Parts: sequence; C-alpha cells; structure tokens
Amino acid sequence: MRARGGEKAPSKPVATLVITGIRQCLTMAGNGSGPAAGAAQEDVGEINDAAIAANDGTLVYVGPASGLPKAVRVAPNATRLDAERGVVMPGFVDSHTHLVFAGWRSNEFTQRVAGAGYQEILAAGGGILQTVGATRAASEEELVDLASERLRGIIATGTTTVEAKSGYGLSLADEAKILRVVHRLDGAGPWQVVPTFLGAHAVPPEFKEDRDGYVDLVIEMIDTLADRAEFVDAFCEEGAFTVDECRRIFAAGRRAGLGIKLHADQLSDGGGADLAAEMEATSADHLDCISGSGIEAMAREGVIAVMLPGVPLYLMSRRQAPAARLQAAGVPLALATDFNPGTCPVDRMGLIVALGCLLMRMSPAAAMVAATRNAAHAVRRGDVIGTLEPGKQADLQWYRAGDFAELPYRFGQMLPAAVIKAGEVVARDGEFL
Ligand code: NIG
Ligand code: FE
Repeated sequence: MRARGGEKAPSKPVATLVITGIRQCLTMAGNGSGPAAGAAQEDVGEINDAAIAANDGTLVYVGPASGLPKAVRVAPNATRLDAERGVVMPGFVDSHTHLVFAGWRSNEFTQRVAGAGYQEILAAGGGILQTVGATRAASEEELVDLASERLRGIIATGTTTVEAKSGYGLSLADEAKILRVVHRLDGAGPWQVVPTFLGAHAVPPEFKEDRDGYVDLVIEMIDTLADRAEFVDAFCEEGAFTVDECRRIFAAGRRAGLGIKLHADQLSDGGGADLAAEMEATSADHLDCISGSGIEAMAREGVIAVMLPGVPLYLMSRRQAPAARLQAAGVPLALATDFNPGTCPVDRMGLIVALGCLLMRMSPAAAMVAATRNAAHAVRRGDVIGTLEPGKQADLQWYRAGDFAELPYRFGQMLPAAVIKAGEVVARDGEFL
C-alpha cells in the first residue's frame, strides 16, 4: 500500500499476542547486553503501566501502554491478555538441572536425617551411584516419559528454558541414551532443553580401581558425543574428580567446541572456581565453599556464578555461596534449582528465588535478574531469552501480584496466572494446558 505522496507507509509490525493491564513489567533489559553484575544486578528494568506485543513468538513491543497503538497493528485474531494490574516478567531459566533420571532416593533421606554424610553414602556405592543403577536400567522411552512429566510441572511454575545434564549413565551407551532423551525432549513440548555432558559426575563401580581409565573414557565419550551437547561439566570435589582430572576433561571439551561448566567448591574449597576461571568457563556452579582467590579469578574472567541455595539447605548445611561478596567483586550471579534426586528434588524456580533472598540475603531484584537474564547467559542463550525486548523470544510469566517482591515474600508458593512460551499461552494458574 502506498501512502499519499507516493512514499511507502512505514509498516508497523503485526501483533498476534497483546498483553495490556501490566502494572509492573520487569524487562531485565539495560546496562548492555551481557550478564548483569555489581550494581546492574539490582536493575530489573521496570516499566510501569506497560504493554507487550509479540508476533509469532517474537516480541515486537515492550513499553508504556500509551505507546502501543502507534507501535503495532494488532491482528484481528490476536490473542489478548489483560494482566489485571499484575506483574509480567521473563520466564525463568533454570540453568542447572539433572532432569533425566529414574528413581527417587527417600531411603537416603532417612539416613541423612539420622546423620549419614552425603559423601559417605556415595563412597559406600549409594548416592549418585544409586541413581546411576536405576537410570541404566530404564529404557529411553521410560526416561522420556519421566522427564516430560517433570517438564510439564516445571513450565506451569514459570520456567520456560531448562538446562539438563547427563551424568547418571557413566558409560558411553548410557550417557548417549540420556543425551538422546534430552534431544527428544527439546521442543517436544513448549519448552527448550539445553544439553550438558556430565560424564565426570562420579567414578562408576566398574572403574573403582582404575580412575585414570575412567577419565580416559570420559575424554573418549566427549569425542563421540560432542555434537549432542552444548556444554561439558564435571563434579570437582573430594570423592569425585580432582582439579587435574577436570582440567584434562575440559581441555577435551574445549577442543570439541563445547562450553564449560563446573560443579565447583560445593562441599569443600578445592580450587574449582580458580579452575573455572583458568578454563574460561561459562559458569562455575554451587560455590558454597569458594575461596577469596576464586572470587577474584571469576570476576576477572567474567565467569557466571550459578548459585543453588536449595542444595545446602537440603543437605542441612548452613554454608551458602557468598552472594554479597561475589556481587561486590563484580561476578554476575545466577540462581538455579540443581533439580536432582539426591541434593535438591525441587524444580520450582520461584522457591529458589525466595531461598536466594532468605538464605543468601540477595535483594528480590538481584534474585530476579539472577533467575532470568543472567541464567540465560549461563546457558549461552542471552541473545534470545532472559529479558523482555523487541526481537527476543516471547517467553514470559504473569503474576497476580502488586509488586514482584511478593513472589519471594510468599516463599515461592505463588503460581503464575499465565505462562507464555514463544508467544503461546501454555499454562494457567499453575496448570499446564
Ligand atoms: O549438583 N554434586 C553433584 N551432583 C549433584 C547431585 C547429584 C546426586 O546426588 O544425584 C549436585 O548436587
Ligand atoms: Fe548439579
């Protein structure tokens, strides 16, 4: 169509989804395009009295409601949502989970409550190795069914992207099976699943007398499975893998083009954070026992701290990652569940945000940035998700709340009134549609 004067009328984007009535929109945008650190960690990019529009899964407008009519042309059959003066923010990104496993471990819960240690149970062949036994015995179909059911619940509570680690196979065939499951899950429902190879999770029983042999096997597995994973991860801890073993594994991962993640300084200060910095890891995770030099090294290299407050709580330890010191040093903070059957059987990011505030004394704003924008960067998806900006994917959640601090204040119990994945409403009031 030509406007008067023969000039082409500037074409407005068409909106197929419109959300109005937003009292508080947390865009998480601003302060550049990378992960937010230091003072920027506190900036939720709030817009009051906002409207959002998307076209076919991509945001085309995020701004004051008054600017919407000028900015977009609303398609006649567009989905319209009234946020009822509530809060709208990006979907949570859970950047650290062990989503694919068979069997729970309530037998160990009873032992742990009675005083048995986590590493003690692992050394006796339980813990991670109990789940390895159950996961090896499960078929690919069974694992797909178990994880899909979990994902439906995860989506309904506001998480729209999930990282998922292997690590309960510990043989080429079983690790390959788990990564196949992750690939089948990705996009099979309204969610995205990011695959991480965690062959170095524990030394399996058949290699008990030959640790070096198992590390060699992990490196061979990387060569075979690299195209099925985006990251390589390792459990760097006494009773699991040493710094030198992890270094060899990460070098292989890097050669294969994988990003690096690390279970670091969880139960003791083993130099994991320093190794993460040395290897230019995307993230170092846990960090409950991180050293001062580890904090400085991470800040220097821009490694994201993925903190998992549910884990020490569940292991009955008082030692949490030092969020305030990390933030003051300029390390970008992310929060994640670590969802797994041993150290945190919780898959609800809203609860983890509350624990970040209550156990680590993060401000609600810093915790929200940690669960969205910075978490997206921790899975190298920061250019597509994690903030609400035109051009990004329309992954968002709406809460019937007057202010976002109500979420952690209500201890993570509040469920989103709606969850939107790539422009589609996929859950309502905690129910997956
Ligand atoms: O992140 N620390 C090692 N791995 C998991 C626990 C896995 C398990 O106990 O099954 C974690 O805490
Ligand atoms: Fe973990």
